[in-house]
Amino acid sequence: MNPRYALFGHPVAHSLSPQIHAQFAQQFGIAMDYVAIDVAPDAFAQTLQKFADDGGWGGNVTVPHKQAAFALCDSLSGRAQRAGSVNTLLRTESGWHGDTTDGIGLVRDLTIRHGYDLHGCRALLLGAGGAAAGVAPALLDAGVRELVIVNRTQANAAALVARIAEAGNVRACEWSELTALRPFEMIVNATSAARAVQPLSLPSSLANSQTLAVDLGYGNAADDFLSWATTVGCEARIDGLGMLVEQAAESFLLWHGLRPQTNSVLARLQNLAGTR
Ligand code: ATR
Repeated sequence: MNPRYALFGHPVAHSLSPQIHAQFAQQFGIAMDYVAIDVAPDAFAQTLQKFADDGGWGGNVTVPHKQAAFALCDSLSGRAQRAGSVNTLLRTESGWHGDTTDGIGLVRDLTIRHGYDLHGCRALLLGAGGAAAGVAPALLDAGVRELVIVNRTQANAAALVARIAEAGNVRACEWSELTALRPFEMIVNATSAARAVQPLSLPSSLANSQTLAVDLGYGNAADDFLSWATTVGCEARIDGLGMLVEQAAESFLLWHGLRPQTNSVLARLQNLAGTR
């Protein structure tokens, strides 16, 4: 039997991760099984335990289980501790080791693939949930000079800032204060507003032609924010498909000690999806 890996989420039917990991494994001639497991929150702990009992070697975790996975791990990487969430699980003798590769995945997509230098960058992060917490410390580590976090629920932004304050210059601001802020060099949408009824409401003064607009989602989920970015004149707009492939590559590296090539995998997904 091949070593078993799985993605845990709810829903996961449309996840691209099984395809991505199959292509990575093919690059090295590694035999592995990677399946998507749809599990509701109340059954997550039990399902993960059964996967371990059945010999599961590693896993990825996506919405809505990243915080639950964090709580179930026996050991955690430093970046998972700072993010408060886990997207990668590695089986050890004593239990699950948890890591988060979302932040480094975003940074590698922006810097290595797209060639941006984040040093000295003044950035606005929209959202303070799991996705925002995953990327915020990595952006500061990558050299972002000032990170402003704005969130619909101000208390959540304040809590995230308090948790990552040691990582760099980060502060929370009220949504109502956005009109008073000058344009940012980068705006990252880490909200799940695209999955909600209420769209994001952002003043046009936040951005200009030099602003890099980044959405952590891809496909339809990135359309609203990136359309707004087009309307306000942002010339550079990036969706989260590259980040998805990069975070997967970091997981693969943790499991196998091998770094896969990502450009060809991303190109294939873009062709399939007809995305930008
Ligand atoms: P994820 O794991 O995808 O980050 P999450 O942890 O539920 O999901 O976080 C969702 C984020 O999107 C939160 O910051 C949420 O704001 P609240 O803290 O106020 O809930 C934000 N969000 C969701 N819908 C939104 C909307 N319609 N407008 C603005 N922000 C929204």
